[in-house]
Amino acid sequence: MNLFDLSGKVGVVSGAAQGMGQATARALANYGADLMLIDRNLAGAENTAEELRQLGRNVLVSDCNVSDPESIRALFKRVDGEFGRVDFLGNIAGDGHLGNPEALAIADLERTLQNLVIGRFSMCQEAGIRMLAQGKGSIMNIGSLASITALGRGHAAYSMAMGAVVQMTRELSTEWSHRGVRVNAVLPAQVLNPSLSARMADDPTLEARFLKGIPAGRLGRPADIMGLAVLLASDASEWISGAIIAMDGGNLAMNAGGTPGHQPHVVQTFLPSEKK
Ligand SMILES: NC(=O)c1ccc[n+]([C@@H]2O[C@H](COP(=O)([O-])OP(=O)(O)OC[C@H]3O[C@@H](n4cnc5c(N)ncnc54)[C@H](O)[C@@H]3O)[C@@H](O)[C@H]2O)c1
Repeated sequence: MNLFDLSGKVGVVSGAAQGMGQATARALANYGADLMLIDRNLAGAENTAEELRQLGRNVLVSDCNVSDPESIRALFKRVDGEFGRVDFLGNIAGDGHLGNPEALAIADLERTLQNLVIGRFSMCQEAGIRMLAQGKGSIMNIGSLASITALGRGHAAYSMAMGAVVQMTRELSTEWSHRGVRVNAVLPAQVLNPSLSARMADDPTLEARFLKGIPAGRLGRPADIMGLAVLLASDASEWISGAIIAMDGGNLAMNAGGTPGHQPHVVQTFLPSEKK
């Protein structure tokens, strides 16, 4: 019995050049899935694909803009032609925007909603149509701590968009689970990536503030999503749908007045690849 076997399944993963998208792609390929990898950084996605082809998987790449419904429709037509099915969607890529609410330009708000709400929904819709026809499939939407709590620090547009990702997940799960299509959301706390590292470099107090909210005592790493990705893509999670899953080292469970039981044990400001 292998509860987590993904052989014969096809996954579509966005943001696969780096970060959580790349980690998701690695996890799925290691458990047997063939993949369509998406990233506007096509060379980066191709690097990930080349690594995973060494495992014997069929891995294709696309530079589809996952903020644009028309590009997304074309991408899924290509998936139909190349693979003939889609079993899992890792709905991961999508830019936010930082800016004080009192100065937030409506155009920036609209772009953020386009990236994270329209883009994610469009991906769900195209994948969902195919999964419903198959009678089976699983979608993993990436939300954020900002989906259900307020971060401050100029996150108003991002929070509004990520809040919608959680409601999108609940609605689609409610509409589709009885037809075999499961939809779940993962809410990460701070996971190291180049833009987070740059923000922590700009504000030397930021990392310690993040860590005060993470009882597990370290920031997230892209690889932290690997287990969840395999679980949600596999039949092991057959009865899990509409779940809003924190991936946050205990952040959301802790009241603002809660005291972490111990001091942070890992402090790593930069990804190893970024060390000068
Ligand atoms: N890193 C965190 O702390 C964190 C926490 C919560 C939520 N998130 C969200 O998770 C998602 C992934 O985060 P990450 O840290 O892995 O990001 P990352 O910046 O490391 O990687 C994102 C990848 O997506 C690609 N991409 C972005 N927009 C695209 C588009 N429109 N079309 C095609 N490719 C696109 C980029 O080229 C990049 O390779 C983002 O939506 C982010 O907001 C991140």
